[in-house]
Amino acid sequence: MSEDATLILGDKQYRFPIREGAEGERAIDIQDLRARTGYITLDPGYGNTGSCESAITFIDGEQGILRYRGIPIEQFEQAPNFVEVAWLLIFGHLPSEDEYRVFSHDLTVCANLDESMKHHFEGFPRSAPPMAILSAMINALSCFHPDFFELDDQAQFRMAAAGLISKVRTIAAYAYRHSIGQPYMYPDPALRYVPNFLHMMFSQPYAEHICEPMVRDAINLVLLLHADHEQNCSTSTVRMVGSSQANLFASCAAGVCALWGPLHGGANVAVLEMLDQIHQGQISPEDYVRMAKDKDSKVRLMGFGHRVYKNFDPRAKMLASVAEKLLPTLGVKDPLLDIARKLEEIALEDPYFVERKLYPNVDFYSGIIMRAVGIPTNMFTVMFSIGRLPGWIAHWWEQAQTMGNKIARPRQIYTGPTQTDHVPRDERPDRL
Ligand code: SDX
Repeated sequence: MSEDATLILGDKQYRFPIREGAEGERAIDIQDLRARTGYITLDPGYGNTGSCESAITFIDGEQGILRYRGIPIEQFEQAPNFVEVAWLLIFGHLPSEDEYRVFSHDLTVCANLDESMKHHFEGFPRSAPPMAILSAMINALSCFHPDFFELDDQAQFRMAAAGLISKVRTIAAYAYRHSIGQPYMYPDPALRYVPNFLHMMFSQPYAEHICEPMVRDAINLVLLLHADHEQNCSTSTVRMVGSSQANLFASCAAGVCALWGPLHGGANVAVLEMLDQIHQGQISPEDYVRMAKDKDSKVRLMGFGHRVYKNFDPRAKMLASVAEKLLPTLGVKDPLLDIARKLEEIALEDPYFVERKLYPNVDFYSGIIMRAVGIPTNMFTVMFSIGRLPGWIAHWWEQAQTMGNKIARPRQIYTGPTQTDHVPRDERPDRL
């Protein structure tokens, strides 16, 4: 295969190098396109544009493959450990016994928030969207850790990463407790990552929440399956913000805001609302699918479709399996699971979805699992954020370590008015 691509513009030819990734994916390197040709490319939504080189996560959308640092996600299913996967994504290898022990210790000692941060929660209305609180409080965290503004050495970065990954649980739990008017529960140093989070969410001063092993494993798996997904909208946002050398906290707070949207992480909430709407008898699964196919309805089958996966999202398969096992074991009979299965069955046989290669994605079953363990719907995207945080941190650090990293600054095709003159207000046409 030619080692470069030829672009013909008028009577001129330009050659651009072809770059090949570790898994054979190819890119035309156009870093000097404008300087040499005066042209830019146009790719709204960046569906055809590589923004960087990365060694963290590999996705093959056609094959439905997802690997963290080369390890297929299916291999984490037997003994799901979110903390291990967080280390793997951030530092590039599975932690040794000592690395895991030290990292776990760092997570334990970093779990508390500065006591004065509690006043911030009191300033939010109880009805405040938890994602608004989460992004605000992650940014507020940086005010208490000015030492994390400049992360030059690995040890300092490791403490900042541990602090963020640990405290995000505390912030999420406190946001929930504030919303229901219940006292904040301090993190318990005797508990591991997920049981400690559920303790802060559900324990009472008079009654300790006990995390069943099957729930611990299910939530570990939910979190690790959300941990990274290469250059998705929120991770690209973290990289974009970090490219200006903004600090880790500010970059991750921006990631929370991007994830919030219903086309992205907010879809897990929209899926539950869709399933509940069907369950309430307001519409049948068949009619909902019919509406989702009708462009004029502005309705989409939430939890279906993906910019990259044009095959099953492997995470959806694993989460569907977790839901099928966990609910009966917990003695939970959730009609929404049956409705989800029915919608999947209808859609996967419908030419509209088949032709567009629309399959269930990570958001289609995750909410049913979280609902079964008592996590309220408005906290689902917060759970996605807790899961995705290690991926954001890993990409922020990978970019910060890249020699010659430049500030992200896309160009545009301008379509506004050509040069015109300013008009004094008393000479302007009447308009209201
Ligand atoms: C996540 O990028 C990531 O990796 C994201 C993520 C991660 O881990 O970070 O995987 C997490 O965000 C998963 C996606 C969650 N969002 C949803 O479930 C919302 C519903 N899905 C869609 O809005 C949509 O599928 C997207 C946003 C996910 C992908 O949109 P694309 O790739 O831009 O596809 P598109 O909008 O161009 O649609 C292509 C066609 C269109 O029809 P035509 O114009 O060709 O006739 O497919 C149709 C769309 O109307 N379509 C859908 C549909 N998704 C796409 N029709 C009905 N229901 C849907 N869900």
